Amino acid sequence: MRVQVAGIDLVNPVLAASGTFGYGIEFEEIVSLDRIGGFVTKGLSREPMAGNRAPRLIETSAGMINAIGLQNIGVDAFIEKKLPALRRYNHCAVIANVFGYTEKDYLAVIERLNAAEGIAAYELNASCPNTQHGGMVFGSDPDLLNDLVWRCKQVATRPLIVKLSPNVTSIAVMARCAENAGADAVSLVNTFVSLSIDIETRRPRIRNITGGLSGPAIRPVAVRMVWEAARAVTIPVLGMGGITTPEDAVEFLLAGATAVQVGTASYADPRAVERIAHGLEHWCSRHHVAKVTDLTGKLDTAAPKEETPPEPAQGS
Ligand SMILES: Cc1cc2nc3c(=O)[nH]c(=O)nc-3n(C[C@H](O)[C@H](O)[C@H](O)COP(=O)(O)O)c2cc1C
Repeated sequence: MRVQVAGIDLVNPVLAASGTFGYGIEFEEIVSLDRIGGFVTKGLSREPMAGNRAPRLIETSAGMINAIGLQNIGVDAFIEKKLPALRRYNHCAVIANVFGYTEKDYLAVIERLNAAEGIAAYELNASCPNTQHGGMVFGSDPDLLNDLVWRCKQVATRPLIVKLSPNVTSIAVMARCAENAGADAVSLVNTFVSLSIDIETRRPRIRNITGGLSGPAIRPVAVRMVWEAARAVTIPVLGMGGITTPEDAVEFLLAGATAVQVGTASYADPRAVERIAHGLEHWCSRHHVAKVTDLTGKLDTAAPKEETPPEPAQGS
């Protein structure tokens, strides 16, 4: 079940996604942290952030919409209060998700993390749809993304994973842009900008008006985007978007992901990441897949052999 992503060794390819697994340590009583590939922290900013006002999270029929607004304790508190306890878990990769309003903010967070022990890699959030200034602005403009990734790569002493926004016209262009600027891997997808309206009050259900849609509702779109991104780059792809079962994870691997992240599923089942990691191992042994890496990019798009060519069209 071992995989290598961006030079990091993972005991298995299933990680918890940013923003849905706190700072990891809060889950130690519920999840055997050493049995999951790793987790990505909530986005860390230079200073603590309170996030947006409520209501900022609602359930939809096949997922949820959130506009948390990157509430977090700040990079220094993470290093002082959360990281030391995490060092007990040698097999669980800790990936720090980095966020800023400006390029300078991103660099400052990375510099502080560089000085701390016990982090495997950085995931650059260039794709949050829920803040006014940062995040998605970088993730939807190739020039800005290029500049941000290049600068962060100069400063980072650890592998850099760039998290891409799905709210773009061409994910392949953005993935290639991240690779050319020096990214060691890309992860996708973040949430989709969405709007839900209470028709009785005629008001948006989320205070921020729009929020990010996640969960099973986005899965087929996310799988398609992972497939497109994986074909566009040579660096590894971490895939996510609505993964709830081991079979969902297999879909992302076949589409081209080397590892996957599980987000919204942890809200319904806090043990989801461990359950999916365990289930994936069983799935592989039932299907005689010797190494999980054998699944990556193995989507077969050839036409089935028995398929007969369509009749030539009559007339024009
Ligand atoms: C409540 C919530 C908070 C999130 N916070 C972050 C964040 O801080 N940084 C980030 O890069 N992604 C964040 N995300 C996005 C997830 O990491 C993930 O990309 C997205 O939800 C799609 O995966 P899923 O459908 O499995 O949840 C958040 C998602 C949710 C639902």
